[in-house]
Amino acid sequence: MLSEKTLQALNKQIALEGNASASYLAMASWCERQGLNGCATFFYDQSAEERMHMMKIIHYVNEMDGHAVISAQGQPKGEYDSVQELFKAVYLQEKSVTSAIYELLSISNKENDHSTTLFLQWYVAEQREEEAQIRTILDKIKLIGTGGQSLYFIDQEVQNINALRGQEEAEAEEGIA
Ligand code: FEO
Repeated sequence: MLSEKTLQALNKQIALEGNASASYLAMASWCERQGLNGCATFFYDQSAEERMHMMKIIHYVNEMDGHAVISAQGQPKGEYDSVQELFKAVYLQEKSVTSAIYELLSISNKENDHSTTLFLQWYVAEQREEEAQIRTILDKIKLIGTGGQSLYFIDQEVQNINALRGQEEAEAEEGIA
């Protein structure tokens, strides 16, 4: 059984993950329009991941006899001045999601809700990985600079990350990793 406070915080997190999914979908569409196909693939995949994060919480809340609330989402930002601006926005967004997870954890800890605390461990690890991945991309963007073919090289780097991610997922599915 979830306390009212924990339930509210989990429902807030459902909305945050849903917003992240919509936001990444809008980013993917923007990248596709710019011809940045590697970046577009990255964000379409990321949008699906965020939806999965949201679904996990919905199922958890319902399993705990709570009521998972699905709230309407506003229109996400759909225009960016540059790919650099876009990835900086992603990093800030992920950091705010991490803060929300930590906030949730401190609530579940205070309430001795061990089940929710355990459930949230997966999110802590996931956020660490996501933030590290975006930092890697931001570092590459910085190294590549803003020269003539920079967009091409940035897109290539993100495409390499997509390939690596696909490989890791396939290995995890086969039980290798
Ligand atoms: Fe599920 Fe990246 O927040």
